[in-house]
Amino acid sequence: MAVALTATGTPGFAIGSTDATATDEALYAKGKSSFRKRCARCHGVNMVNPGVGIYDLRNFPKDEQARFTESVTYGKNAMPSWQDVLAPEDIDALWIYISRDAAATPP
Ligand code: HEC
Repeated sequence: MAVALTATGTPGFAIGSTDATATDEALYAKGKSSFRKRCARCHGVNMVNPGVGIYDLRNFPKDEQARFTESVTYGKNAMPSWQDVLAPEDIDALWIYISRDAAATPP
């Protein structure tokens, strides 16, 4: 089976390096849990906006990852900066979660 072959395959590659989908799933799960920990208290559980005038992340444009990274890293107005708390990989994982689930849960 293909699964067994990867263990003895090309040296120098980490587990899962040939499987982009598994990697995406791992990042998605990581983004989701970090959203619950860090973002949900303002942006709402599962991004369902609590209705207090805070930006509704379900409306965030899917083609603006650079803006997302910038706003999350440095903050924006009442939104705190996250650069001391989250590594760039964490912010990428958040983007994978938000850009996928935002489409799945329209306001
Ligand atoms: C303390 C409350 C608070 C927390 C916690 C918070 N945010 Fe925000 N966020 C805001 C507010 C308020 C805005 C609206 C900022 C504005 O445009 O004035 C905002 C806006 C945003 C925007 C839109 C920025 C833009 O470019 O328009 C994104 C994306 C975002 N938040 C992501 C996140 C993520 C990801 C987290 C968790 C790491 C998070 N926020 C945690 C309060 C918060």
